[in-house]
Amino acid sequence: STYRIASIPGDGIGVDVTAEARRVLDRAGELHGFRLEWTEFDWSCECYLATGSMMPDDGIEQLRPFDGILLGAVGFPGVPDHVSLWGLLIPIRRAFAQYVNLRPVRLLPGTRSVLAGREADELEMVIVRENTEGEYSQIGGRHNSGQPGEFAVQQSIFTRTGVERIIRFAFELARTRTGRVTSATKSNGIIHTMPFWDEVFAEVAAEYPDVHSEQTHIDALAARMVQHPDRLDVVVGSNLFGDILSDLAAAVTGGLGMAPSGNVNPPGEFPSMFEAVHGSAPDIAGQGIANPVAQILAGAMMLDHLGETAAAAAVRTAVERALSAGEVATPDLGGKSTTTELGAAVASAIT
Ligand code: NAI
Ligand code: MG
Repeated sequence: STYRIASIPGDGIGVDVTAEARRVLDRAGELHGFRLEWTEFDWSCECYLATGSMMPDDGIEQLRPFDGILLGAVGFPGVPDHVSLWGLLIPIRRAFAQYVNLRPVRLLPGTRSVLAGREADELEMVIVRENTEGEYSQIGGRHNSGQPGEFAVQQSIFTRTGVERIIRFAFELARTRTGRVTSATKSNGIIHTMPFWDEVFAEVAAEYPDVHSEQTHIDALAARMVQHPDRLDVVVGSNLFGDILSDLAAAVTGGLGMAPSGNVNPPGEFPSMFEAVHGSAPDIAGQGIANPVAQILAGAMMLDHLGETAAAAAVRTAVERALSAGEVATPDLGGKSTTTELGAAVASAIT
């Protein structure tokens, strides 16, 4: 079979790591009997500087017919981050109801966890981040600019539909894993939205008596993720909390260069979008040394989503083989290899 995939490499290292993910996915297709038909879109900060928009007005319509979207990263110095985020990433997530941001992390061989010495299977968890509402809202504003009483207001929106469906997704996922869900809250300090989140969590939890559920304040949860990550499996959080926790989870399991993510529309009504957790890394952009593993693993998540589960598993195994051979490692993993060398090593390790 053939899948139509939209590729949006974006800015900085997004371009380099997306090229390697494509190489690996194409190889997986050759070996597993399917073809990926790529269409590349040059939507980026460069595009913004030239045209005044991150993507064309009909960008969403252009993406709609695809079976999947592979996104590099957007953001570059000279363009404010809220412009790149709200001009491309957030509109895509919302237009296609990609309400689940799935961010699995796992300690892989050859990587440098800040928790070195742990068993690999102790460090495997998935952050389920709400992806369409919450703290990422356009409601609010700036007032009394330049005056002594200057202030800014930012509203959060938590709908019953939005909160319930992300929490339910986490419980369903836990049933396929260790049967454990931890909810990130802050209902002691945030007194409207978070108690509501907790209430919905308790209601949904009651429908899953076979799943162990608990809630922890986000601050304590952050500490726990560093000190006892082995006691976490599925962690569900709002848009902001889930974002922060996923970078932290990535850091404890080998760094941002290793962490993939999927912006998923669970009914499959619209295309889902896969990307690394990391951004465009301007500090190392253009040097050819970014770790492509996160983006390659994001590609494996896309294969799973397309139903090519054997090929997805083969890509993950190839990543482990390439890393455990110890011959190729990018600088973030303590080595001297380039992005291309690591990508090529993964591609040739696929069976
Ligand atoms: P970042 O994730 O780009 O970089 C943070 C640090 O991790 C940097 O030191 C970087 O060199 C390192 N790093 C990240 N990925 C790496 C990789 N694959 N290999 C080796 N090292 C890696 O986050 P930062 O610096 O906060 O953001 C940079 C730009 O990216 C900003 O414009 C931001 O808005 C954007 N961004 C875009 C995202 C997206 O498109 N989904 C997500 C996060 C940030
Ligand atoms: Mg983030």
